[in-house]
Amino acid sequence: MPEVAIEVKNLKKYFRNGDGTVKAVDDVSFHINKGEIVGLVGESGSGKTTLARTILGLTKITDGAVIFDGVDMGKATHKQMKELRHKVSVVFQDPAANLNPRETVLSSITRPLILQGMSKKEAKGKAEEALKLVKMDSEYLYSYPHQLSGGQLQRIAIARAVAIQPQVMILDEPTSALDISVQAQILNLLLELQEKLNLTYLVITHDLNVIRYISDRVAVMYLGRLVEYGPTEEVIGNPRHPYTQGLMAALPILNPRDRDKKKDMMVTEPGSLIDLPKGCHFHPRCPYATEACREAFPENVQITPEYQVACYLQQKN
Ligand SMILES: Nc1ncnc2c1ncn2[C@@H]1O[C@H](COP(=O)(O)OP(=O)(O)OP(=O)(O)O)[C@@H](O)[C@H]1O
Ligand SMILES: [Mg+2]
Repeated sequence: MPEVAIEVKNLKKYFRNGDGTVKAVDDVSFHINKGEIVGLVGESGSGKTTLARTILGLTKITDGAVIFDGVDMGKATHKQMKELRHKVSVVFQDPAANLNPRETVLSSITRPLILQGMSKKEAKGKAEEALKLVKMDSEYLYSYPHQLSGGQLQRIAIARAVAIQPQVMILDEPTSALDISVQAQILNLLLELQEKLNLTYLVITHDLNVIRYISDRVAVMYLGRLVEYGPTEEVIGNPRHPYTQGLMAALPILNPRDRDKKKDMMVTEPGSLIDLPKGCHFHPRCPYATEACREAFPENVQITPEYQVACYLQQKN
């Protein structure tokens, strides 16, 4: 049995706004194994970033649990919480969100280390090591963000994230702001670091090519729900949830016979988190919807311990 790095149980994150309640993350359950690279996909607004922020402890959980290395974050003591913060780090899409424009690279990387209680000298040594890991010369320690290219900024953001020696890294669209050629370099760097440092990744991306390239498993979100989560090859090559089927059909590589039907499905208006339908969130767009789908959201069906699908079609099989 693989060891579990993060377990998410019936996680909910609701926001209140003028129109009512936005159920950005609703009853999401899944786990990530140690050393695994998990890709998280889904249309804009499906709740991917909110899920990541909730796992990171950056926003309060509405209900449910995030269990990190055996510790329930909702019940963690102050001391445990402090330890957890070192075990998981984050890289955002926007370099501006990762780095303070008025700070040198050195102080961006060392500040979290000094906060952890490290001496300035030791922290500088760690920053130098981190730059080496991302293949940048140590002279860049004295640069400011505006002096660096997009690819360099993302390398620095990665250096900053690995410098705290985390077990898990959450990467929210780490390459989508970059040129294609630079994207590949950053992905290869991430793969290399994962292996070298024995890291676990949760990578959020719109780009299925990124998923295919780097992830062991892929998780698919639709309007706040996790609808399918399993081995990348199976989820991409032979998706089980009708939403995933539609998503994959948007790629030109899939079975040409089915493509037109599935494309039709995806051109209908995406649903809204505000007026969620009763039952399965996807049923208004789903060509296979039955009465059951209109009544209640389907439970997860475990195809294997590492593969889950929330769809009534799977329950019948
Ligand atoms: N702080 C907040 N207050 C109110 N609503 C929020 C807040 N953060 C997110 N939301 C809402 O939660 C929903 C999910 O947003 P989220 O940013 O998690 O989606 P996403 O899948 O990351 O989208 P994208 O692919 O565009 O980054 C959206 O409807 C968004 O408006
Ligand atoms: Mg997002």
